[in-house]
Amino acid sequence: QRRHKVAIIGSGNWGSAIAKILAENTTANSDLFEPEVRMWVFEEDYQLPSDHAAYDPSRHSHPTKLSALINELHENVKYLPGIPLPPNIVADPSILSAVKDASLLIFNVPHQFVSKICDQIDGKILPYARAISCIKGVDVSPAGISLFSDVIGRKLSIYCGALSGANIANEVAQEKFCETTIAYDPPGTLTPVPEEFPVVNHALWKALFHRPYFHVSMIHDVAGTSLGGALKNVIAIGAGFMDGMGWGDNAKAAIMRIGILEMRKFGLMFFDTCRSETFTEQSCGVADLITSCAGGRNHRCAKLSVEQGRPIEEIEREVLNGQKLQGTLTAKEVYEFLSARGKAEEFPLMTAVHRILIGEEKVEDIPKLLHSGGGLL
Ligand code: NAD
Ligand code: 13P
Repeated sequence: QRRHKVAIIGSGNWGSAIAKILAENTTANSDLFEPEVRMWVFEEDYQLPSDHAAYDPSRHSHPTKLSALINELHENVKYLPGIPLPPNIVADPSILSAVKDASLLIFNVPHQFVSKICDQIDGKILPYARAISCIKGVDVSPAGISLFSDVIGRKLSIYCGALSGANIANEVAQEKFCETTIAYDPPGTLTPVPEEFPVVNHALWKALFHRPYFHVSMIHDVAGTSLGGALKNVIAIGAGFMDGMGWGDNAKAAIMRIGILEMRKFGLMFFDTCRSETFTEQSCGVADLITSCAGGRNHRCAKLSVEQGRPIEEIEREVLNGQKLQGTLTAKEVYEFLSARGKAEEFPLMTAVHRILIGEEKVEDIPKLLHSGGGLL
């Protein structure tokens, strides 16, 4: 019997936290998986701070390649500082070598980079590889809207499912308890995985992702799972606006209530396979909305933007140290998709968030915008 080789494409805050989970489980289930997990790193030079415990002036007095630092220190010092990574994670700056011979591919990069990455590895992966996308975002083009699981699957001629949940990366990396949702529903027409490998089914994905502190729920609704993660980023910006105004918990609860209804309405309107209960019952729905509106980066940057009266992009550059917001771009993409179909007014909260971000509306007018747009739903 052969074992699956696992590669993760991405090594940001969430990419590194997920790599840690994968590496723990490939070791624990070495009958199913090869222990080594290759992690593709978008290479950059990084100056290790002189107060880091491992700082050695003979080696670290000048900027060093991030991938080399990760392999030396077993820590992603830039994107997940302070968290020891299992030594079976191998950081690899070459995307082609990272995905070589991997039968299980985990995609975990900010959504704006996915298409280019797929172009780089198209034709260079195993034809029977299977994938999971941990990306929170949607792909919008003049042709319409696509889930990243579908973009990845289409571009690489493989099948890709989706993982999404109430998963603030730093908390998961510290092994604080949480839940997640994985959706996997492959068609029967794929290049078969050779029989020597363990079957790729719900049980196998659970063996790869489930931890005592990271509880996995397996479902079939890939559209609902992906959309929950993408759209809540827009709503979390709205929640950040409320906190920035100092309007308190009632205002934020209103945004969350309207937000989950708009998310579900969007899913049911535009994706045939989407199920209502994914939004109301799964971690990738209501739970992710709650955690993101409390402690996420989109919420934090939107709050600071209102408090300081400065554009959110400036705050993002200043406080996130290279991490990327997903909600600002998703708000724009969703707005353009909706307005092209004459539907923007049916989603007054998501529309208001985008129009505030581009300076066409003011945060203090949100109550009016929700009311006049029929946003009480
Ligand atoms: P991040 O925002 O922490 O880091 C940015 C990453 O992008 C870095 O790895 C950086 O090297 C990389 N990058 C920068 N420029 C690039 C380029 N031109 N091409 C390719 N890569 C480039 O990333 P993250 O938090 O790991 O986010 C990945 C996905 O996970 C996002 O869709 C996000 O919404 C989702 N997510 C994040 C969290 C979280 O708490 N961080 C939790 C759940 C899901
Ligand atoms: P942010 O990107 O807003 O930090 O959200 C993180 C997240 O997706 C938590 O589930």
